[in-house]
Order: sequence, then structure tokens, then C-alpha cells
Amino acid sequence: MNTRHLLTGHVLQFSGNPFTARWQDTVYIEEDSAVLIENDQISAVGNDARAQAGPDVVHHDHTGHLIMPGFIDAHAHYPQTAMIASWGKRLIDWLNIYTFPEEMRLHDPAYARTIAARYLDLVLDHGTTSVASFCTIHPASVDALFEAASARGMAMAAGKTCMDRNAPEGLRDTAQSAYDDSKALLTRWHGNGRAIYAITPRFSPTSTPDQLAALGALWGEHPNTLMQTHLSEQVDEIAWVRDLFPDHRDYLDTYEAFGLLGPRGLYGHAIHLTTREIDRLRDVGAGVVHCPTSNTFIGSGLFDLMGLARAGQPVGLATDTGGGSSFSMLRTMAATYEIAQLRGEPVHAAQLLWLATAGSASVLHRGNEIGALSKGMAADICVLDLASTPAVAQRHAEADHIWDAVFPTIMMGDDRAVAEVWVNGCRLRGGGN
Ligand code: GUN
Ligand code: ZN
Repeated sequence: MNTRHLLTGHVLQFSGNPFTARWQDTVYIEEDSAVLIENDQISAVGNDARAQAGPDVVHHDHTGHLIMPGFIDAHAHYPQTAMIASWGKRLIDWLNIYTFPEEMRLHDPAYARTIAARYLDLVLDHGTTSVASFCTIHPASVDALFEAASARGMAMAAGKTCMDRNAPEGLRDTAQSAYDDSKALLTRWHGNGRAIYAITPRFSPTSTPDQLAALGALWGEHPNTLMQTHLSEQVDEIAWVRDLFPDHRDYLDTYEAFGLLGPRGLYGHAIHLTTREIDRLRDVGAGVVHCPTSNTFIGSGLFDLMGLARAGQPVGLATDTGGGSSFSMLRTMAATYEIAQLRGEPVHAAQLLWLATAGSASVLHRGNEIGALSKGMAADICVLDLASTPAVAQRHAEADHIWDAVFPTIMMGDDRAVAEVWVNGCRLRGGGN
């Protein structure tokens, strides 16, 4: 049966990139507007939505709320759900002491399924409808996430995390098994429903040159898949990469030399870049992913969002759960704002909302399917209550324009602000379910 739903409220709309053009010319909130959902898609927005609604439509009145695309988290580690917010370490110690022991537990497929379900339920609670996630070295951890995403209708990118050195026994594969397992997984999952496979070398310190070359070859054989990894997160890590790869020009070159640099590549963190790396990433059109709560939590540094994005670098936004300290893209936008302030340049709410939706969609190469509310896009929608708690509500009451009404929720909001979540045309949160 052809079910149609009309959502009415303030509607977030994009016409371009608010970093390379003025935000005022590219991001709009249409007040008291409407979105029409037909099956799994958005079939009309604004006056067209009301005109086409018809008498059989189910009306969802969100007057005063913000109807926006579901958040897209462009870099996360679902296996780290149960060890998020672990105290007091910097990157390499944090990996060895907290992360690797927890990732070892996903050796058990039943535990992987438990964590995958828990993780996706948490992100949906926070209004996130799509994620690009690392898994563990265990192929069953990839199946667990894609199966859980498929059960919820979510557009998911993920891949087996590959490591063949500098990781404990039990968390190491080999160059050959990483190639074989990744190939079998991408054959099973890439383009299966809403799943996209991401070839996933964890980062160059945990892969031998042979493994990087094998995964580069695999990407060359399957160029429509994504590739996700980490780049230049901490100064100590960069020095370690220099020791491990003395013949390479810089950290990025340890990927580039092995066929692991391309427009469908996603490079998490990318904080401490050389001029060559900055130019090369932009020229290639690779995606860099800003992970602000992680960068402060693990003490990594202050990403140059404004400098990179203004120069045309594709940038997505991410929690980096569980190096990041939150599942919430609202909290992630707040941290983005705070880091930009520490760098001396405020980022506007319009830019933050674009980054957390269309910006992430574009680095995932899914910008024609998710990340915006327009005709033909998937009905992946988040509805935000802009006065969700007494603290936010009293500030919201003072707002004299729409951006001033939205910004308190970005800075102070949490899962209580998420009034409804729609995935693929189905309401998964709010409305009494
Ligand atoms: N670098 C390599 N692995 C990881 C990880 O799991 N989290 C973060 N934040 N950085 C990494
Ligand atoms: Zn990460």
C-alpha cells in the first residue's frame, strides 16, 4: 500500500556548500514548511508537498520543530561502544590499554551482534541515520553491523579493520587474509540494499607495506568501494609513521604509494598536515573527516576546518566513537564550534548543520541519496525539538530569528532534542514508538 506522510514544521534546505560560498546563499530554513514522504523517498518539499499531499496523507505536525536530514556520522568505531569515555590516555596507549582488549571481545559473533544492535539503537536515539564505521579484524563483526543496519533500513558504510603488525595476538591478520576476507565481504555486502563496503586499513602503523599494497590492489579492482583510515591524528603517531616508513615523503604518502589515495578515500582526523598533504588531498578530492570530540578527548589537536573547507577540501563530520566521547552529532557540532573558536574563527550554525548532513554525505559519495531534503532523496529524516529541556527552552524563548532559535539546541541539545527519526520512509523514533 502506498503510504504517504506529510511532516510540517521548519525545514532545512541546501543549495550549495556554505564553506566555499556564503552560508546565507546556500543554507536556508523555510519556516512553517512541509516535507512529503512517499514510501521510502521524499516526494516533495514546501508548497509542492502541501499541494500533492491529498486527503489520504498521514499528517505529522511539527510546528516550531526543525525538520532536517538525518545526521550522517562519517567516521565511527562501533566496536568501541562499550569502552567509550575511558580515562586518561593519549592515542597509542589508549589503543593498547582500552581499545584492543575490547575489540578482541568481538571475536565472539554473538557479542558483535549485541554491540552492533546496541550501537545502532544509540545512534538512532541521537538522530543519526547513516554511519561510516570501522569494524574489527573479525569478518563476522562486519556481517553483524551490516545485518543490524539492514534490519533498520539504514544506509551503512563499513569494513573489516585490517592490521598485520603492532597489534596484539588475536587482533592481527596478514596481507593475504586481509585481502581475501575484505574481498569476500565486499562481494557479499557492497551494493547489497543500502550497504556500501569500505576497505579499511586501520592506519599505516598497524599495516605492513605488503598489507597496504594488497588493500590498495583490492581498491583498484573495486574502485566504487570506499576506503577509510586514519591520518595525522597525533604528533607522536606521525613520528612513529616516519620511523616505520623512512622512505616516504610524509604520512599521506604511506597511503598514496600503495594505491590508497583517491576521491573515495576517507581520512579521519587529518589534523597535523604538511603543505604537500593539504594540497594533495584537495587536488585528489579525497574526503577528510573532522572528529572534534575525539580530538579534544584524546588530546590530539585543533583541526583547521575553516582553512581546509574554504579552500575546497571535502570535509565530513564524525563522532569517532569511542575515541570520541559522544554518540551525538549535536554534541559533535558543539565541539566543532568550540574548536573553531579556539582557532579564532566562529563557524555558523548553518555551516555546522550542512557539515553534519550534506558534508558527510558528499565525502561518502552518497550526496544524491542522503544528506538533504529534496525530491527523490531517501526519506532519512531527523526532527529536532528546539526547546527540548528547560535550559534550552528558556534560551530559545529569547530568540528573535530562526538561526538564534536553532543554535542553543546545537550547543546544549542531546538525545532529548530528537523528536522523531525516519529511516527509509519508516518512523523509527518518536510518535509513541
Ligand atoms: N588510530 C588508529 N586507530 C584508531 C582508533 O580506533 N581511534 C582513533 N581515534 N584513532 C585511531
Ligand atoms: Zn577512528
